[in-house]
Amino acid sequence: MSILVTGGAGYIGSHTVVELLNRNEDIVIVDNFVNSKPAVLEKIKKITGKDFKFYEIDVLNEEALNKVFQENNIEAVIHFAGLKAVGESVEKPIEYYHNNITGTLILLKLMKKYNCKKIVFSSSATVYGNPERVPLTEDCKTGGTTNPYGTTKLFIEQILKDVYVADNEFSISLLRYFNPIGAHESGLIGEDPNDIPNNLMPYITGVASGKFEILSVFGNDYPTKDGTGVRDYIHVVDLAKGHLKALDKIRKETGVQIYNLGTGNGYSVLDLVKTFEKVNNVEVKYKIVGRRAGDIAECYADPSKAKKELGWACEKGIEEMCKDSWNFIISNKGESKD
Ligand code: NAD
Ligand code: UFG
Repeated sequence: MSILVTGGAGYIGSHTVVELLNRNEDIVIVDNFVNSKPAVLEKIKKITGKDFKFYEIDVLNEEALNKVFQENNIEAVIHFAGLKAVGESVEKPIEYYHNNITGTLILLKLMKKYNCKKIVFSSSATVYGNPERVPLTEDCKTGGTTNPYGTTKLFIEQILKDVYVADNEFSISLLRYFNPIGAHESGLIGEDPNDIPNNLMPYITGVASGKFEILSVFGNDYPTKDGTGVRDYIHVVDLAKGHLKALDKIRKETGVQIYNLGTGNGYSVLDLVKTFEKVNNVEVKYKIVGRRAGDIAECYADPSKAKKELGWACEKGIEEMCKDSWNFIISNKGESKD
């Protein structure tokens, strides 16, 4: 039996695949490379010394995805495939709703057809909208998302809950990620967007490497310790390991389980900049500019439910996250972007 990993060539997917292979799971990856590169697959093989099946297909292509289910005995799905750029989703709502929601519906239709009823879904802390309180627990109110990307996560969570109501044999794990950063210790895989990054860490590494001149810090007048936005940064390898624990859980019981995957610690933008400079001995020039539309002051997790029910907790701290993010960039300097 195999685990189908959609979006397995992406940032979080590739790190999760490494952990799955290290545990000798049999996997099948599906990706259309809309936001990743084929070279990642070779790097995964290099890190793990293991091989796996790969299909270059779009999850929107029902016929092609049907073939994947036909040719493999899929026990469970880890569903990463999705578009994730917040700003772009505001400009292209139809593309975002279609890719993320229709893609999930096609996947679910085929899962039913092939009697595969176990799924781990990549959700996001964005479903909490403007947090009613921090640290966020899973029972905090959701909704009030401020962009189509966030709304796709909210809607897909609801779709999956409805699927369970209709068929109690389903086991569904909704993982609400906080802010993944860092990279695999090998320096072979990590996050290096082609376009101008939306997120803080790729922008910091871009300034440190000279790709960008200066980091704009979006606001220093929030009610936080230094006025800049506070987030729960989580090492991508810790996040990846959370998926294996979620998989263990859905193998054992049916139902819809929701978990925050975060460290429980909030760090400000300036904390991250200063830590990055210190551990890597590089300068990150920054300037304070106005707030970014739709941003919230503080967002961090109470991860105790995942600890109690999954036996999962983060092992890597903010310094290791900053070191590994930079190690990935310097290890891949000069590598072709194509
Ligand atoms: P990513 O863009 O690196 O990975 C997504 C992968 O899915 C890419 O390889 C892309 O090519 C693929 N993909 C997208 N649409 C596809 C389609 N229609 N068919 C086949 N493949 C497709 O992003 P990531 O950071 O690894 O995120 C993985 C998942 O986690 C996404 O669903 C994202 O929304 C979610 N998430 C990410 C974050 C974050 O900050 N990175 C936070 C919360 C949730
Ligand atoms: N920031 C800057 N300058 C930048 C980029 C970001 O100051 O150039 C600040 C932001 O204002 C915020 C913090 O850095 O205070 C983190 O911003 P990110 O864009 O890295 O992360 P967000 O928490 O805003 O958003 C992320 C994902 C979303 C997801 C959300 C909740 O990008 O997809 O977490 O999970 F929805």
